Amino acid sequence: MQTIKEFIAGLPKAELHLHIEGTFEPELMFELAERNRITLPFESVEALRKAYDFSELQDFLDIYYQGMNVLRTEQDFYDLTWAYLEKVSKQAVRHIEIFFDPQGHVERGIAFETVLNGIHSALVQGKKEFDISFGIIMCFLRHLDEEDAFKTLDSALPHKDRIIGVGLDSSEIGHPPSKFQRVFARARDEGFHVVAHAGEEGPPEYIYEALDLLKVERVDHGNTSLRDEALVQRLLREEIPLTVCPLSNTKLCVVDDIKNHPLPKMLELGLKAMINSDDPAYFGGYLNENYEAVSPLLGSTDQEKKEKLLLLASNSFTSAFISEAEKEQYLQEIAAYSQTDSREPAQE
Ligand code: ADE
Ligand code: ZN
Repeated sequence: MQTIKEFIAGLPKAELHLHIEGTFEPELMFELAERNRITLPFESVEALRKAYDFSELQDFLDIYYQGMNVLRTEQDFYDLTWAYLEKVSKQAVRHIEIFFDPQGHVERGIAFETVLNGIHSALVQGKKEFDISFGIIMCFLRHLDEEDAFKTLDSALPHKDRIIGVGLDSSEIGHPPSKFQRVFARARDEGFHVVAHAGEEGPPEYIYEALDLLKVERVDHGNTSLRDEALVQRLLREEIPLTVCPLSNTKLCVVDDIKNHPLPKMLELGLKAMINSDDPAYFGGYLNENYEAVSPLLGSTDQEKKEKLLLLASNSFTSAFISEAEKEQYLQEIAAYSQTDSREPAQE
């Protein structure tokens, strides 16, 4: 039998909550800063990493938007995305649905197409080279106004063939989903899938709004749903997936200690949760490291833990915006993988 770490390493997985700008590792940031003749307000890679000490979401967002400023050309966005693909190609990641924040770039004078073309062409190459399927989800920055979101949606319309959905991210408290009700209605009319960050720091009411007003198909994070029994019942009834991000939650102090992470409780209640990395360059781990971080909480024996890991990986595919046939194919990969594990002789 494989150890838990080995089991996670080879387990086929999908990642559904990943901000591509959040994969910007300090080493690459310095390299691109030099290429674009930009001076970073940090002396070294080490000094930059030291600044990744957050006590809430806003602390992180301030540094995340500052980091983005280095991204200028299509090649920069390609290199950023490619670096992420190279990492997760070694983590048995089979499908990804990645977020990007166009407003964070357009407001700096970078064309929407520069961003999208760079990200998309790297993903096409990743499909060829690593057989990782993908979707792109465009997020609206919720700290900006409705008008800006509508403008951003207009920019996306000529690229519907390359953008599968819209999402909502950035500073949650004080920016409820209701602010974007009309933008999301238009996005749905245009045929986009819809998701939104809700219940990361914000109250359960924001999750209700995301469901009732934005009509989201998945909730990103959703941690605070556990505070409201009626909401949990609703999420169960409607089988709404929660894209949970364990290391993000500890780094941003949404959870005080990984030991108290709500994921085991979510699974116990029957919620359709799965594991994601959110902004791995800032939070200390990619997808496998997130699985590893919560695995001790998933049972008392390795057998129990592996069953829960299989459930989490299955949820990642069944919650994806892919066809039923594709879901079935990935579930078969998982089933074949779990059989190889049980066939291996025990090592003592
Ligand atoms: N943008 C990037 N990461 C985010 C997060 N965890 N919450 C809200 N907005 C984000
Ligand atoms: Zn996020």
